[in-house]
Amino acid sequence: MEISQSWSKISLDDRSPQLNTPHSLEISQGERGHLLAVEMNENGFKGEADTKIQVRGLNKVSDKGDSILNNVNVDIPRGVIMGIIGPSGSGKSTFLRALNRLWEPPKNTVFMDGDDICGVDVLSLRRKVGMLFQLPVLFEGTVADNIRYGPKLKGKKLSDNDVYKLLTLADLDSSFFNKSGGELSVGQAQRVALARTLANEPEVLLLDEPTSALDPISTQNIEDVMVKLKKDQKITIVIVSHSIKQIQRIADVVCLLVDGDIVEIMKPDQLSESKHPMALRFLQLSS
Ligand SMILES: Nc1ncnc2c1ncn2[C@@H]1O[C@H](COP(=O)(O)OP(=O)(O)OP(=O)(O)O)[C@@H](O)[C@H]1O
Ligand SMILES: [Mg+2]
Repeated sequence: MEISQSWSKISLDDRSPQLNTPHSLEISQGERGHLLAVEMNENGFKGEADTKIQVRGLNKVSDKGDSILNNVNVDIPRGVIMGIIGPSGSGKSTFLRALNRLWEPPKNTVFMDGDDICGVDVLSLRRKVGMLFQLPVLFEGTVADNIRYGPKLKGKKLSDNDVYKLLTLADLDSSFFNKSGGELSVGQAQRVALARTLANEPEVLLLDEPTSALDPISTQNIEDVMVKLKKDQKITIVIVSHSIKQIQRIADVVCLLVDGDIVEIMKPDQLSESKHPMALRFLQLSS
């Protein structure tokens, strides 16, 4: 059974008195009671097979003493698209950057496949956990050079055929192979950046407003690719977006982050049932 199909109803339980207990997504129907329940082992948390990334008690305080992330606890299920929404300055990018150590989280706060990411070699972590930003930055050289960059660092040369396959995955045709970055639209460059990230065979993709600078057609292309990557390659995707409609189109689950706090985790079509004023405001403004 597909995970998304089993999520017939997800409820947020944030009332647990236990320290470090995550917001748990609870399935009220189906045979599996707690999809995202966790267990402890001697090294800390060990995830169930269905959890790709666990975040436990993640805090960040600014130099001035302001709270940027406030005891964030969340489980990101394997092979789903999780959307992150929230007002500007609420900590979405900071949260995302913690997941591949672009911002170094404290030890024992972020776990991938049950292991503390702070204990993993940072470059191999970033290969496994790729990231795309609002605006793509391509390196000098051709599209093919860009796509070959990551594997080359590991001493692996991608064949032309490998590059064509990656172009196809990112919804670009073979004519892009020899183009330079300067010849591309922002939407095309974003798809090249995606192909370059995919060349590292990531298990997780972090996307920070990846389509906010794109036209609706380029946006749809990227969304289609995301859904395909999840479906065909079982990649876990975490996407920050200001577009509720985008989240509703592609995400399986959505987190609402307000002032550094995760205040809601729900299925996108349950947003209208949220009692949180910010969730309702997002919904109103998106229609
Ligand atoms: N390096 C930093 N030093 C100090 N404060 C920072 C730093 N990075 C982010 N902040 C602050 O942390 C808070 C969260 O920033 P963040 O960029 O994560 O928000 P965001 O939700 O991604 O916002 P937006 O939707 O505008 O991109 C903001 O108040 C920001 O000013
Ligand atoms: Mg941001």
